[in-house]
Amino acid sequence: MSNDHEIENLSTETRHFPPSAEFAANAIAKPDLYEKAKSDRLAFWAEQANKLHWHKPFTETLDWSNAPFARWFHDGELNVSYNCLDRHVENDLGKRVALFFEGEPGDTAVYTYQQLLEEVKKAANVLIKLGVKPGDRVAIYMPMIPEAVIAMQAVARIGAVHSVVFGGFSADSLAQRIQDAEAKVIITADGGYRKGRASALKPNVDGALADGKCPSVSKVLVVERTKQEVAWDDSIDVWWHEMMATVDTEHVAEPFPAEQPLFILYTSGTTGKPKGILHTSGGYLTQASYTHKNVFDLHDKTDVYWCTADIGWITGHSYVAYGPLANAATQVIYEGTPDTPDWGRWWDIAAKYNVTILYTAPTAIRSFMKMGREVVQHYDLSSIRVLGSVGEPINPEAWVWYREVIGGNKAPIVDTWWQTETGAIMISPLPGVTDAKPGSAQVPLPGIDAKVLDDEGKHVGPGHGGYLAVTEPWPSMLRGIWGDPERFKETYWSRFEGTYFAGDGAKYDDDGDIWLLGRVDDVMNVSGHRLSTTEIESALVAHPYVAEAAVVGAKDETTGQAVVAFCIMKRSQAEKTMNELDVSKELREHVAKEIGPIAKPRQIFVVNELPKTRSGKIMRRLLRDVAEDRPVGDVTTLADTSVMDSISGKMSTAPSED
Ligand code: WT7
Repeated sequence: MSNDHEIENLSTETRHFPPSAEFAANAIAKPDLYEKAKSDRLAFWAEQANKLHWHKPFTETLDWSNAPFARWFHDGELNVSYNCLDRHVENDLGKRVALFFEGEPGDTAVYTYQQLLEEVKKAANVLIKLGVKPGDRVAIYMPMIPEAVIAMQAVARIGAVHSVVFGGFSADSLAQRIQDAEAKVIITADGGYRKGRASALKPNVDGALADGKCPSVSKVLVVERTKQEVAWDDSIDVWWHEMMATVDTEHVAEPFPAEQPLFILYTSGTTGKPKGILHTSGGYLTQASYTHKNVFDLHDKTDVYWCTADIGWITGHSYVAYGPLANAATQVIYEGTPDTPDWGRWWDIAAKYNVTILYTAPTAIRSFMKMGREVVQHYDLSSIRVLGSVGEPINPEAWVWYREVIGGNKAPIVDTWWQTETGAIMISPLPGVTDAKPGSAQVPLPGIDAKVLDDEGKHVGPGHGGYLAVTEPWPSMLRGIWGDPERFKETYWSRFEGTYFAGDGAKYDDDGDIWLLGRVDDVMNVSGHRLSTTEIESALVAHPYVAEAAVVGAKDETTGQAVVAFCIMKRSQAEKTMNELDVSKELREHVAKEIGPIAKPRQIFVVNELPKTRSGKIMRRLLRDVAEDRPVGDVTTLADTSVMDSISGKMSTAPSED
């Protein structure tokens, strides 16, 4: 039974996948990690932090006296880049491969830890030569190439602060972020390869700087990648390769305080101006490396790890540029899109490098499902032994497909819940410990306190739903919103007293495992029942016809809001001629049967595409506009702005329902 302050509990999942005895025996994380963290949480985090190299040891683990502004390990000093590179080389790991780079056109490069360190030292000297001082901000606007990681590491090495802006953002978005952070230098490239073409980046930087819009910027450092033609201003533009060839090759990593800002990463708010999420050094690196090792079961000597995220997102920060390097991992990075030259590209790369750990997003998995498993089965993926998922709830159907088709029915899946704001993974199974359930992120990691609360801040307990909150500070937590402490307090710390409000709906199942239910703004209220979009979408995708689904609540005279679903059919189904009314009827009944009549969609629309942001999140706000028959709102953050035209066009001719 649920009360008025909760989100309904709709679906149940009975499938379980315990780790194999062999996996459990060899796993990095053992069950006692939970007890250790529980018995003394701060001592546990201090122990994790002490796995890093501290130039000056810390004496205080957490200072929470000025909450919600945390200081972790604050009297200690370290260098983030030293921890990611120098110490491994000093430990005789210089010859180990750090990066296997695969360019989209098929070019490759390999960097050992020794070579990566040499490049980062030179790049640090380049930045110093350009006048960058500790604490200065450097904007990075680059394709997914080794220089992107080198640039981030070099900025960190000299105690400066990077602000990576995803290469898919426009000149205006870039300008807005440069202005907010008052960046002194921009590191970019002539372009990068995407979808089989050279896609220019430098013109967007030129556009951002035009008309004196970004007066803080004194230099633009340009990596030559595509060799396409670029406009050049000698007073501001400099070539990366020319500078790298002339600077000193030695650079000593100086220590910085644990709370030295490391980076700002902008994330879109519900309205208006993007928020510059601020992360600092010691706590961030502690949790990024701890989670990377334990959640992915990283055996650094033998594993080949591949995270498909771009450095423009937090995942590309914590699980490409920092966590794996701090752990001396060997990793793959890939420049391009998964469909170039065809949908086999990722699996070709995974087979070529014998990837053992793969970390990607549900939106990608569903794209592959849509294409059919034959595309994947063409490749030998037997090296894969751990699979990760991040970015949105992974519906059980996609989870099971991921395990069967990519994981050869043996690789455990870790569904990792976290946010740009949390800096590192917070809720996830441990692959050698947890009895995995498809669709659930399951349990807070050892050292993390997260709970599901009702409207009034009360813990809801097993079988109930509400709002996800993090109830104790954690090392990689955001330290604020750049330049806006009030917005920081208001957005995250005002909903529940003294507790971090994540903005996500969540529920516990009867075992007490956590299921994420999507953003709270997306929760619907149908006849007084709060329903989560995620659960209805999962039910739809479990039907054999459906490849992808997005559900929104639309105003309804009788029920307050009504469920409206937008579905993409599987390729095999789409090829058959379908009567849309029959399909719609069948799917509506399917939902009613699976989760109950209350969740039965009022309307179902078959569409060819769904509106998504560049990081793959469905923009339900736009679908709500369509469902409520309004002109569609701002589409500028869509990956493909034409998608809404085709959906709106579809709506006007769609058959109406009872
Ligand atoms: C939001 C944060 C974390 C890196 C990528 C996204 C959703 C993220 C999961 C998951 C259900 C998830 C949440 C969260 N989310 N991971 N495993 N299960 N939902 O970072 O752009 O800051 O987005 O993504 O809604 O709040 P982000």
